[in-house]
Amino acid sequence: MIGVCLAAGRGTRMKSARPKVLFDVNDEPLGFASVRAAMEACDDVCVVVGYKGDDVRAALESRAVEVFGAAKVKSSLRFAVQDPPRGTGDAVRVALESLGKKASNDDILVINGDLPLIRAVTLKKLKAAAHELKLDAACLSMRVAKPAGLGRILRDDQGRFVGIREEKDCSKDEKAIREVNGGLYFFKGALLAQALKHLKTNNAQGEFYLTDLLDGKDRTRRAEALGIKSPWDLQGVNTTYELATARKVAQARLQRRLCEDFGVDFEDPTTAYVSARATFKGSCRVGPGTVIRGATTIGTDVLLEGQNFIENAVIEDGAQVKWGSVIESSTLRVGAQVGPYARVRPESDVGPNAKVGNFVELKKTKLGAGAKASHLTYLGDADVGAEANIGCGTITCNYDGHAKHKTVIGQGAFIGSDSQLVAPVVIGDGAYVASGTTVTKDVPAGALALSRVPMVVKDGYAVRLNQRHKARKAAQKK
Ligand code: UD1
Ligand code: MG
Repeated sequence: MIGVCLAAGRGTRMKSARPKVLFDVNDEPLGFASVRAAMEACDDVCVVVGYKGDDVRAALESRAVEVFGAAKVKSSLRFAVQDPPRGTGDAVRVALESLGKKASNDDILVINGDLPLIRAVTLKKLKAAAHELKLDAACLSMRVAKPAGLGRILRDDQGRFVGIREEKDCSKDEKAIREVNGGLYFFKGALLAQALKHLKTNNAQGEFYLTDLLDGKDRTRRAEALGIKSPWDLQGVNTTYELATARKVAQARLQRRLCEDFGVDFEDPTTAYVSARATFKGSCRVGPGTVIRGATTIGTDVLLEGQNFIENAVIEDGAQVKWGSVIESSTLRVGAQVGPYARVRPESDVGPNAKVGNFVELKKTKLGAGAKASHLTYLGDADVGAEANIGCGTITCNYDGHAKHKTVIGQGAFIGSDSQLVAPVVIGDGAYVASGTTVTKDVPAGALALSRVPMVVKDGYAVRLNQRHKARKAAQKK
């Protein structure tokens, strides 16, 4: 079977310069749902692109490589360009030209590119039903409460399928019909190419409508509109409001699969968001308001407490991300703890059982096993040894206004609170930096570094100062 995905339109009703099929659903391009379903159900797939076609092709192709691998994409996914877009019928003609001979001997499924909830199982059901009923052409139809904008299914007095009428061409009575075309079609390839030649543009939009190919009155070809039981699969997206609705369903479906397959425990599924590109390994807890994006991997027994933003990260088994923390393109090793309110910026690596506490920011920083930075700290371009302790308020001064420099802190070193480490600088293993020190040169292993302004204590001075101020205020009042 051959799959044809239609993704050449701009999606004018989205009111955006971005092609409709590139809006995201579950962190994937909206148009990828039909490509995925087609690649799962068909042997060959042709995607028709047009508006911003290079961008659309790049996004769909790269996601297809992630999901199916480069070899399958190379052998079974192709793209054809429709320029200018002259309607869904014209788009299918372009696909058939690209597919050549093989299209005339096979079954063809055509899928609108704006069906983000479509699944392979629905494609297979349509094919099976079309074969059983010996149909030459079929579409899936559904009953909806608000049919506005969709093609209406026309039937005669006995309920026999007559054809599809686009809304703009409908009479008032036809507009009241609630059975609509879902945008998924089956065709016998041998007849499709022939029928396309006879398509006309004598309609309200002056386009070649694919829907005109389903003519129930034509006795030489058998066409049907087959009702579908789970209409969510055919929830088309034409506006950003419809997109928001589809996103909710897509997210709920994804979460359900993660619950059933891995025991992911979503405390509040309605506020959590998971990327379809994320990988889960087993049971873990996802708290409310947590957003997991990109190619993130979450290990078993991980706790994501809530209001966390996690993107392209690896969170190993037993790691904990406490409330309100951000983890980007970094790794948290087994048993590491981060947060609450911590920010781990790209290229950081928090070692096994290491601890990053509240209001700590890491950037390109590696913490060794068991190292701790528990409060109010900035560590940038730093390499911190195992079991080192970074005191509250420590700052690596990694940027001199022109370049970034590295700070190396040895194993078991102790950095006292409120210290500044002016990079490049090396603190040796087991060294001790006293509180409030500004470290401007390397500290050897086992050494103490101390830089402090000498402290002065003046007995009774505060009392005398207060008395002086009070006396002055009293004199001013008189
Ligand atoms: C289409 C159907 C309508 C159906 C609805 C279901 C037609 C004429 N109408 O309407 O009966 O109820 O889907 O969702 O088919 N596209 C191209 N090239 C073009 C035009 C469109 O590739 O020249 C692509 C679009 O990118 C989109 C898909 O085809 O992915 C459907 O186009 P759209 O404009 O959304 O059609 P609808 O008005 O929704
Ligand atoms: Mg549409």
